[in-house]
Parts: sequence; structure tokens; C-alpha cells
Amino acid sequence: MASTCLDMSFLGNICCNNWSFRPCTRLTPCISQERNSLLLRKNKNYTSSVGYNGAPLTEISCVPSAAASSSELPPLVNALKASAEENAASFHFPGHNRGQAAPSSLTQLIGAKLFLYDLPELPELDNLFSPEGPIFEAQKQAARLFGASETWFLVGGSTCGIHAAIMATCSPGDTLILPRNSHISAISAMVLSGALPKYIVPEYDFNWDVAGGITPSQVNDAIKELEMEGRKAAALLVVSPTYHGICSNMDEICHICHSYNIPIIVDEAHGAHLGFHPELPSSSLSQGADLAVQSTHKVLCSLTQSSMLHMQGNLVDRERISKSLQMLQSSSPSYLLLASLDAARAQLSENREAIFDKAIDLALEARSLISKIPGISILEFPSFSSFFQIDPLRLTIGVWQLGLSGFEADDILCNDFGVVCELVGTKSFTLAFNLGTQRDHVLRLVAGLKHLSQTSHFPQPAKDEGKNVNHFVCLDDIRISMSPREAFFATKRKVSIRDSLGEICGELVCPYPPGIPVLIPGEIITEEALNYLLEIRSKGAVITGAADFSLSSFVVCVT
Ligand SMILES: Cc1ncc(COP(=O)(O)O)c(C=O)c1O
Repeated sequence: MASTCLDMSFLGNICCNNWSFRPCTRLTPCISQERNSLLLRKNKNYTSSVGYNGAPLTEISCVPSAAASSSELPPLVNALKASAEENAASFHFPGHNRGQAAPSSLTQLIGAKLFLYDLPELPELDNLFSPEGPIFEAQKQAARLFGASETWFLVGGSTCGIHAAIMATCSPGDTLILPRNSHISAISAMVLSGALPKYIVPEYDFNWDVAGGITPSQVNDAIKELEMEGRKAAALLVVSPTYHGICSNMDEICHICHSYNIPIIVDEAHGAHLGFHPELPSSSLSQGADLAVQSTHKVLCSLTQSSMLHMQGNLVDRERISKSLQMLQSSSPSYLLLASLDAARAQLSENREAIFDKAIDLALEARSLISKIPGISILEFPSFSSFFQIDPLRLTIGVWQLGLSGFEADDILCNDFGVVCELVGTKSFTLAFNLGTQRDHVLRLVAGLKHLSQTSHFPQPAKDEGKNVNHFVCLDDIRISMSPREAFFATKRKVSIRDSLGEICGELVCPYPPGIPVLIPGEIITEEALNYLLEIRSKGAVITGAADFSLSSFVVCVT
């Protein structure tokens, strides 16, 4: 690996005509601009014209970008540019050798240039796990922008950030309070950390088949219930905003938890943009969260899989976060992903006051146009109390009055109008607006919805808007027999559904909708759970997580 190459600094900087010798000592935090531009000029003479597999390399030649000079580039983007532009005789990974041997099936699609920048942990690119140079600077600038005391760049998505946040706050046997409909990464984090769950069942709107957030009083009750059992939560995890853009009252929740010295982790995978426009809800950090995990790749513009973990305050041990991340992430992180985080941060910083103006205007225009279409509903405020705020850039559209399911409407919109949604449910589908949303696409969406409305043959009476039910009988009596960790490692066997009653569930069984798991590994399979699952499956719910999604059998733990 390049970062472990021999220290030959005793030879000094030897520069001949055709190559530059780069000593393998760690660079000081700032990459020298002079050195970069010198190399740039020299290297222009030495670009070969044909790659290993015959692919022309003109595309990947070291042409300085006209768009921005090096000094204007974000730190890690700048370092990547300078490193890629060196006239290196490269004997390091990855094997495509800076694009020389890039597979042609992919270069036909995207060109070879991307491969030129797909570099490993070269000394001048810094080390994600002990940053001192451009990664350190890029993370520092991100922390400043998002209001954190420290920010970590992630190459394993928010999934990895949630794992690290829970591992940093919960030791084996500790209790984590979390919503029952948390992302699967929170459940796997309990397998990794050995934490025990204390679930909060979120409110749920039957009209929409949509689950909400959690309320401050639910958090308070959970803390009190644990106290009565002689336990204290090691952390609280909140999902805010949810996939549907529903935000919980983080301000009050943080206030409650901090009065007990309980750190708050926010799964803010869907909220990296929060706080960057007056119409957007505030970020969880600005409301007091200790850790916030954001999928920068979801609403902001970094590459898929790149995310950030932000921290503030002193309730969480920063060293434990760093150690957990080192354990969980690849030792060969992609510098394209890392640089894309730096670039997304810079894009936001350059115009933080107005960057979301167009997206918000388009979302408001879409709402206004769609609200006039007969038979179409838009998820607005509030049909349940946890509906504290909603992200205006997440538009959930109900089609049940047209006699259509969300899946059917999605098919028509996709096949006949080329409109592709983010999330589809039984009664609705959800659209994500972002910095790239185009007005003609909004108009195409509106045309598609008008078509659905006009061609609907079975108009249904409007549902009872505002009705909500916060009661799942099957979740009234959750009995945990093994921790998620014990259940994960337990020997498993398959039993018929008839024989599963009273057994310890070995898999996560989650009907969709509502996307709230009915059984989580380690829980006793109760009659209520079985009845509920069979009933909603007969109504068309898709059962996710179970190996046998027809539900004729269950995987259970052998005790
Ligand atoms: C609520 C929530 N949390 C976490 C994640 C995981 O995010 P990532 O895809 O960045 O790993 C997702 C993914 O969709 C999610 O919806």
C-alpha cells in the first residue's frame, strides 16, 4: 500500500527531467500550491496518448481545470487534483493504474478520467483514520459549516455512522432507547455493540400508512420506565427526519435527555440540508443533539455511500468514535467519495443563504399545482402529534381516492411519463426535491398526476383525514428473551408458523407498510404478533426481513 512505502526522505527531493521523486514522509497539513503548479506544468509534456487497453488517454491528460484555480478548490479536492496530475510512474493499487488499464465497458460509459482520480492512501492525500492534512482540513471546514465541534467523513454511508455512534455510546448490556421503526443499521449496531433495546413505538397514520417520529413525552416515559427497572439509558437514538420528511421535536427531546445526562444520536440520514433555508426545519445539532449522522449523498450532492458523522458537546467520547470508525470502515477508503464530501460541503458554503431557493420554490409550486388535482392528496400538517415539522423538499402524494395503490400510480408515472419516485408505499409515493430538480420535470410530474386523476375509474370517498392510531396490539407485549447480539450468534432452525408460537424469533420480520418491525431477533413470537402478521399479509402487505416472506415458516433461535 502506498502509505506504507519505505521512508526514503534521506534522498531528499530529486527532480530530473521526466519525473519527480516524492519522499514518503507525511506532509504538513497544507499541500503546497507552488509544488502542485510546478508539477502541473512539467507533467503536461509527459502524458502518453494511448492507455494499456488501447483506450485514448486524452481524456485523462492533466489539463488544468478552467473552472477553478487550485487555490479556490476545496482542500481534499485540491489535493486529489494535484496528486492525479503528478507524472507518477505508479506501482501502487488500484490495478487500473490511474486509468491506464480501466475496463473499457465502463470507460465507454463514463470515460477514463474518473479512474485517474481513483487514488489510494498516498501520503499527500492524508489518512482518513489519523488525518493531519487535506482530510483534516476538509473535515474541519465541514464541522464549521454544520455547527459541529468535530466531523468525520464516512465511506460506508450513514449505516456505518449509526454503527459507530451506537458502538461509541453503548457497551454490552447497556440500554439504547430507539424507535421501533429505526433503520436496520440501528438493529445491526445492537448486534455489534451488545446493547439492549428499549423501543418507542412511533405514531402511525392509517390513512397514509405512514409512521411518524417520536414525541418528547414518549422519550420521557421510556426513561422513567427504565428508571423503575433500575436501569439507565446509555443513549437515545432518534430518526429525524423520517424518510417521509417528518421531523421530531428535537429541541425538547434533547432537553429531556440532557437533564439525565443521556447522549442523543440523531439518524439524520435524510436531513443533511436542514437549516440551510428559512423554510427548512432546523438541524438536530442546532437543537442540541450530541451526534448527528447525515447521508450527504441523499439530499446534498456527494457521491452515493458518502456520509458525515457530526459531534458536539462532551457527553460522547471522541476517541471511541474514531476507534469504532476505524474498525468499521474499509482500510482503503475511496478518495473519490471523500473528495465528493469536501466538494458537497464547498458547494453549500459558497452560497449557503440562497442555495436552496430554487428547490424550495419548485417544491412549493409543485404543492400548489398538485393540490388542485382532484383525487390527489399531499401529506401536510399534522395528523398526529409527533408531526412537529415536515421537510418541504419531501413531497408525499396520496392516491387512494383514485382507487390506486402507490405502486400502481408509480408504475404509470414511470412507464408513461418517465417520472421516477424516491419511495413507494401502498397508498402514496414520495418524491425527493433537491438542488438538481428541474421545472420541466415538475411539470411532467403534474401532467402525470392529472392523467392519473382523469383516467381514474373508481373514485373512492375521501378518507377520514386526521384519524390516526397509535396502537399496535402486537407491540403491547414485546418480550425479549435474547439480546439482538445473542440472537444473531445463536444457532437457528426453521419451523412452520404453527409451531413458532413461543419460540425466540431469529429474524427481523417487518411488514411494509407500515415499516415497523413486528418481530426483532431475540423476541418471543406471540399470538398477537402472528395474528397481526397473517392479517396484514392477507391485506397485501409485503413482509420484509423474513427468509420465507410467504410466512409459512419462521427462522427461530435454538436455545
Ligand atoms: C432513516 C435512514 N437511516 C439510515 C439510512 C442508511 O443510510 P445510508 O444509505 O447512507 O447508509 C437510511 C437509508 O435509506 C435511512 O432511510
